[in-house]
Amino acid sequence: MDPIAQVQTAGGSYPVLCGDDAPALLAQLWDARWRQAALIGDSNTLPRFGPALAAALAPRCGEVLQLAFPAGEAHKTRATKQQLEDCLLEAGFERGGCVVGVGGGIALDVAGFVASTLLRGVAHVNVATSLLAQVDAAIGGKTGVNTAQGKNLIGTFHQPRAVLIDCAALASLPAAELRNGLAEAVKHAVLADAPLFAALEAWADARVGDAPLPRPLLARCVQIKAEVVSRDEREQAFRQVLNFGHTVAHAIEAASAHAVAHGAAVAIGMVVEARVAERLCGFPVADRERLERLLATLGLPTAPPLPFAAVRELLGHDKKTRAGVVHCALPARLGQMHEAAGRWALPTPIELLAELWEPVR
Ligand code: GLY
Repeated sequence: MDPIAQVQTAGGSYPVLCGDDAPALLAQLWDARWRQAALIGDSNTLPRFGPALAAALAPRCGEVLQLAFPAGEAHKTRATKQQLEDCLLEAGFERGGCVVGVGGGIALDVAGFVASTLLRGVAHVNVATSLLAQVDAAIGGKTGVNTAQGKNLIGTFHQPRAVLIDCAALASLPAAELRNGLAEAVKHAVLADAPLFAALEAWADARVGDAPLPRPLLARCVQIKAEVVSRDEREQAFRQVLNFGHTVAHAIEAASAHAVAHGAAVAIGMVVEARVAERLCGFPVADRERLERLLATLGLPTAPPLPFAAVRELLGHDKKTRAGVVHCALPARLGQMHEAAGRWALPTPIELLAELWEPVR
């Protein structure tokens, strides 16, 4: 099967494959040198997808370890990572093995982080089963866990050897999960592709119920993510564009103790940061209105559910903060991010964010 995208990295490149039969795809791409396999997922994803993946790998590497951790952001922690590491070491997992992350963004971030430090780094493959993971989290090698101070503050860059997009999994994805992924799809369109934004608008307007994202639109989102990562693998500058909406989103997630899901928080974050972009870099009012309308049509929230005071401190914990100053990656117009002298995130006065924060409804 032809990849829908290829991610270029310092060490080579890896494919993103998309299909309805993830176990068969995984068996096909399995490197004969990987003598052991460990599937890592959460308590929702692993029982569902693990057995078929393990059965497909058994002829290639014998018994397949299956390690599940409790689902939810609250368990995306250093403690969970340690428990998984202990299980792998006790089972005699060796450097020549491959960790397979199975699930959505949380499962893949944790599995990748485990793979990146176990025995100083082992191979890993991501099998993405949620839309959010498929268009964003599974691609690009960001791994990590949360701390009390915020999201993903401890982690590594560790590129997977391949990413599998399990399209069949989308058929049974809960509607709220689907919406989380749609927020990231909208983000990709805003940052790189105005025609994709228009296509999303047309699809959203004609959509019946919770119909999944059509495959060509999903594939375009994957390609945008792959292009950004290929240009700046370790987020020296350009990759920051993927953070549009995320400075605000991560603060909302932390302040709400993750009661607001990532995609919903990104939707709200994009709306707030679009208002900032209007002020700081001339983002057209009409574009901001189109963004708000598309998000609302997709059933995503657009207004902060918390007062600004609840996020003020947390905004400073963002990884883009420099010398105590919050930075946001902002659009110049739909399909194009703002850039100044090679910088893709702008210093953003905290008082401006406070002023443009909408009242809690
Ligand atoms: N999800 C943002 C990034 O991969 O850089």
